[in-house]
Amino acid sequence: MRYVVTGAAGFIGSHLTEALLAAGHEVVAVDCFTDYYDVGVKEENAAAFEVSRLDLAEDELALDGFDGVFHLAGQPGVRPSFSDFPVYVRRNVLATQMVYESAARSNVRVVFASSSSVYGDAERYPTPEDTAPEPISPYGITKLACEHLAHAYGLDAVLLRYFTVYGPRQRPDMACARIVDALARGAQFELYGDGQQSRSFTYVADVVAASIAAMERAPAGALYNVGGGTEATMRDAIAALEDLAGRTLDLSVRPAAAGDVRRTAADTQRIERDLGWRATTELGDGLRAQWEWASVRVAAP
Ligand code: UGA
Repeated sequence: MRYVVTGAAGFIGSHLTEALLAAGHEVVAVDCFTDYYDVGVKEENAAAFEVSRLDLAEDELALDGFDGVFHLAGQPGVRPSFSDFPVYVRRNVLATQMVYESAARSNVRVVFASSSSVYGDAERYPTPEDTAPEPISPYGITKLACEHLAHAYGLDAVLLRYFTVYGPRQRPDMACARIVDALARGAQFELYGDGQQSRSFTYVADVVAASIAAMERAPAGALYNVGGGTEATMRDAIAALEDLAGRTLDLSVRPAAAGDVRRTAADTQRIERDLGWRATTELGDGLRAQWEWASVRVAAP
């Protein structure tokens, strides 16, 4: 098959692109190389394949002749979205609208990377997809807007709500990446809040498998949670990483961050029923893979 992956130099996009190529698909990888985090990290993520530089909010994405587009590009991060809202609107809502227009014109399926943050502090846990979305961050609001836009365009779209994805190449602003880095360097980690906030941490290879299954087999218009099976608190994740590192984290407790939900817990019955997908990576195994990947890099000259 011929696919486009947007955000291909990002954390999830680079793993997805590699998996599609390994499975024998033809992939056009695009990325804007924004400076949300170190561009050198993105270049390293994408070292194994060619990437076209495109700003999707301005440059048209040519989709004629493709079988689908995995639209992962966007401005990530919950907490900075309060101060940078115009950037979130541009890189999420406007860019996605452009991608949808191209997809509608070319009659191409879109798998869209949405987020658990659309739920906000959800009224039910584990949270099924039909729970009323009540995002509490500007970021979550832009992701929800993108979901609604897909319906407005009448696209053949599959919407995936990824839950706190982790693993090798995790975005450097995310908690596990910062904890691993602090442990490897002997630096301090700032914990926002009491550490009892919990997440359905989801291993990146599981997210890649769900995304490909969604492209290949999901009914048009489907909406799925893509979440890890075990909910863990930040204190649990820290303890597991301390065990792997064999040292104690230097922790500085800060106030809880605006926009941060107290809890995420994915109900994944729908995707399991429709696509036979469930997360198979245990948190301990996934964190070990992330620790091994990152600690080698820190130790490298
Ligand atoms: C993550 C991603 O960053 C979002 O892009 C994504 O959309 C979202 O998951 C999702 O599930 O949809 P988040 O759950 O906040 O958002 O993941 P982390 O950035 O890893 O943070 C997890 C927890 O650790 C949060 O409570 C956060 O406040 C805390 N944290 C994060 C710290 O205590 N210190 C830090 O330095 C960073």
